[in-house]
Amino acid sequence: MNILITGANGQVGFELQRHFALLGNVLAPDRATLDLADRQAVEHYLEEHRPQLILNAAAYTAVDAAESEPEQAKRLNSKLPAQLAAYAAKHKVYLVHYSTDYVYPGNGETPWQEQSPTQPLSVYGQTKCEGDEAVINSGCQQLIFRTSWVYAARGKNFLNTMLTLGKERDALAVVNDQIGAPTPARLIALVTLQAWQQGIAHGVYHLAPRGVTSWHGFASEIFEQAQGAGVSLAITPDNVHGIPTAQYPTPATRPLNSRLAMNKLETALGVSMPSWQTQLALTLHEHLSAEAAYKHRKEVSQ
Ligand SMILES: NC(=O)c1ccc[n+]([C@@H]2O[C@H](COP(=O)([O-])OP(=O)(O)OC[C@H]3O[C@@H](n4cnc5c(N)ncnc54)[C@H](OP(=O)(O)O)[C@@H]3O)[C@@H](O)[C@H]2O)c1
Repeated sequence: MNILITGANGQVGFELQRHFALLGNVLAPDRATLDLADRQAVEHYLEEHRPQLILNAAAYTAVDAAESEPEQAKRLNSKLPAQLAAYAAKHKVYLVHYSTDYVYPGNGETPWQEQSPTQPLSVYGQTKCEGDEAVINSGCQQLIFRTSWVYAARGKNFLNTMLTLGKERDALAVVNDQIGAPTPARLIALVTLQAWQQGIAHGVYHLAPRGVTSWHGFASEIFEQAQGAGVSLAITPDNVHGIPTAQYPTPATRPLNSRLAMNKLETALGVSMPSWQTQLALTLHEHLSAEAAYKHRKEVSQ
């Protein structure tokens, strides 16, 4: 089976490559091999390689930049999923697509259900929402995972930014009124693999760990755990100060309520999602091990 993973160098795409390696011939073109913004190039690639499973982890994820580049965001987040879904419907193959909590309106404190009405607040959210609708309306065999606050041991993300800043600064101000669940890319890949192997039904599923926090809570836990692991930091968790979103203006409006109800996925898979704190511990461990190995290699080569 040919398995196409788009966004192969991204956080989720990279983990998907590890997790699907035993299931078939993984095709993981990077941007230099296949520009996903080029409709014709995508069409040729699909015709040439005829994937039987498509995992669409590519996206335009620069939430703030999307406000001034709506066409680029639309191509990746709306038109590409529509194109992949049309191919999947025509050739009767499976499409797994990834989406976001940013499709919801972000008000209140109640967790969103998969059937909650969407009402995105930003260009990114709007384009992702259009992508979901295109996949749903295509009639192809599909799984759409709406996830939140994705991070990983590698790449540019909140965990890595905090660890860098925490070594340089002795105080930080972090937003404390946006509430959601930080989700490691590895967990997303693991759930995708399990869902594929168990053949869970078609449709939209939330995918996040148990429990919620704010960005401030996430940052404080990162520093707490990093300190516990012996990382030398300039900051202490007590010196991470909470600020409201209003004091940290950004071009794109972000939802305050990103809580995602997890019961649909847990019931379908017969699993209980792990807590976001235990998932952070695993991801941090992986990050620190990779960092130590890199340092060691550098010392040996000097
Ligand atoms: N990140 C989050 O916090 C978050 C939250 C909720 C949902 N999600 C969703 O989860 C999914 C995976 O996100 P992620 O965090 O893994 O994203 P990511 O790390 O930003 O990766 C996106 C990937 O898409 C690729 N890409 C973008 N434009 C391309 C183009 N024109 N041609 C070829 N490749 C292109 C990027 O390539 P390069 O490596 O070359 O840039 C990158 O590999 C996405 O659907 C996203 O919307 C993400």
